[in-house]
Amino acid sequence: ETPALVLGIESSCDETAAAVVAGDRRILSNVVLSQLDDHRPYGGVVPEIAARAHVSHLDGLIRRALDEAGVTLAEIDAIAATAGPGLIGGVIVGLTTAKALALGAGKPLIGVNHLEGHALTPRLVAEVPFPYLLLLVSGGHCQLLAVEGVGRYRRLGTTIDDAVGEAFDKTAKLLGLGYPGGPAVERAAAAGDPARFALPRPMIGRPGCDFSFSGLKTAVRETAAALPQPLAEQDKADLAASFQAVVGAVMVDRTRRAIALMPPGSPLVVAGGVAANKHLRARLEALAAATGVPFVAPPIRLCTDNAAMIAWAGIEHFRAGRRDPLDLKPRARWPL
Ligand code: KG4
Ligand code: ZN
Repeated sequence: ETPALVLGIESSCDETAAAVVAGDRRILSNVVLSQLDDHRPYGGVVPEIAARAHVSHLDGLIRRALDEAGVTLAEIDAIAATAGPGLIGGVIVGLTTAKALALGAGKPLIGVNHLEGHALTPRLVAEVPFPYLLLLVSGGHCQLLAVEGVGRYRRLGTTIDDAVGEAFDKTAKLLGLGYPGGPAVERAAAAGDPARFALPRPMIGRPGCDFSFSGLKTAVRETAAALPQPLAEQDKADLAASFQAVVGAVMVDRTRRAIALMPPGSPLVVAGGVAANKHLRARLEALAAATGVPFVAPPIRLCTDNAAMIAWAGIEHFRAGRRDPLDLKPRARWPL
């Protein structure tokens, strides 16, 4: 039996992406167009601009993904597209394109939950058995999930206010470090003293596995405001490092509690854009080692938004027999 070949489409935020993935885990193509330059002047993603950019670029990217994979649409077994959650204009562009292709080529359509794309990514890169603990940390999400099977997710914890990527982005804005914030804060923090500022450590020691970052963000703002203006480079670096260290401590505390809720030895997997942060990765890896569980972190290009993860989630569902109707609705909100 030849492995399934799936075309994946992602357009739920500010990346336009298409990919072709095979059921034996081969990524035949994975093209991602970042809209960073379109949104940079606004210091954040503007939904209207994002949707228009997806309209302009998606078809060409799909053409490229097929060409690079060396396959024709006729050879594809199914078309998987993000059907939510996300910025609804972008989701509509991707899902409608997928429907048109499915209809025109007579192929099955599979609507994928974007979060599920992140959640199943580790199985695209390695033989990771269920169940595993997923720490999903991105610009829009901050969750601890027990991944028990395809379509079987149990939420152990979530943020009660901001997502962690959002906290990085807002901190970067406060410190004038530029956009996107995550990588800018990480860069500045490398030259900073993480012990200089005593910031609050939200949720640490509390029961449960939930997160909270809005108090930390406020503390960063107040601390920055109390320093001589304009901020000196060293002050920025020290504040960035102090912020990042607190985020790391919160993450470790919450994740340690979630590990205790999983069957012993279940792998710890980290995914989402914030998983690109080397400091956080190192601390989570140390936690996994200390608690005796395997640690899996997909390569960074598969951690940030991409279509290979959507194609892969499509493959997992395709194998399980799922097919979606052409009147499938896009969803701005869609909890796993
Ligand atoms: O998964 P992603 O590409 O998009 C979604 O939000 O779904 O994640 C983007 C987020 C942004 O908030 C960005 O600032 C953050 O991930 N990020 C980082 C780093 N690289 C990206 N945060 C901290 N450190 C990084 N190195
Ligand atoms: Zn994402």
